[in-house]
Amino acid sequence: MKTLTSFAAALALAAPAFAQDDALTLEVAESTEFGHYLTDGAGRPVYAFTTDLRASDGEGAQLSCTDADCVEAWPPVTIAGTAEAGAGADADRLGTAGDATQQIVTYDGWPLYRFASDAEAGEPQGYGVAAFGGEWRLLTPAANALATDVAGAETIYANACAQCHGPGGQGMASFPSLAGNNPHYIASRLGQYRAGEAIGSNSALMRPVAAALSDDDIANLAAFIATNFE
Ligand code: HEC
Repeated sequence: MKTLTSFAAALALAAPAFAQDDALTLEVAESTEFGHYLTDGAGRPVYAFTTDLRASDGEGAQLSCTDADCVEAWPPVTIAGTAEAGAGADADRLGTAGDATQQIVTYDGWPLYRFASDAEAGEPQGYGVAAFGGEWRLLTPAANALATDVAGAETIYANACAQCHGPGGQGMASFPSLAGNNPHYIASRLGQYRAGEAIGSNSALMRPVAAALSDDDIANLAAFIATNFE
């Protein structure tokens, strides 16, 4: 990872509200509402912004939260030193974006932000907030949570999920209902099953199903299920 030491001084002048970390370890927290989500190591949730362009092979990320009001409410997670993946976070998904004046921590290519209204180690307050022209989302440690093709997930659901969870996601017998969950929770659970984790006593039924899903499948299924099964 690149480190740029001249950045601290430049940024302090330009935006005193930024709290820049020398080093940072991304960690994982869990809540009933959201399942697993990434935090900054001090327990504060980190978010992605849907109007940003995520970094992909050979292309840098582009931030769309850059004006003073946005940066005050959603300060980017900037570092002078190195970022590391703590327990449960995936080091392969971690990176940095930026130029000589600014280095921002990324996960899955998404630039990370904190939310000014979150308390340290509290329940995330910023999930799903629509502000500054986009929406703010939590990051799942094991699967991308931002959907790109929700309509395509309807077919996957009908072919690979409906036989157990029911055509309307209502569940049956020992197969749980999927209704009433937010997309982050569903994507978080699918990522956990795909990573081989045990959640309830019947996780062995879910693991092979989740193993066949790509990151995009998970994001799209999560959005499809949360939107259609209420
Ligand atoms: C063979 C039956 C079966 C199939 C097929 C199946 N599931 Fe499941 N699913 C289960 C069972 C059983 C559980 C509870 C597992 C446990 O105990 O951890 C579960 C749990 C889940 C959960 C977690 C629910 C919660 O409240 O935490 C989600 C989300 C989920 N399934 C989504 C899906 C999706 C999406 C598909 C299709 C890609 C799918 N499932 C296919 C049987 C199935």
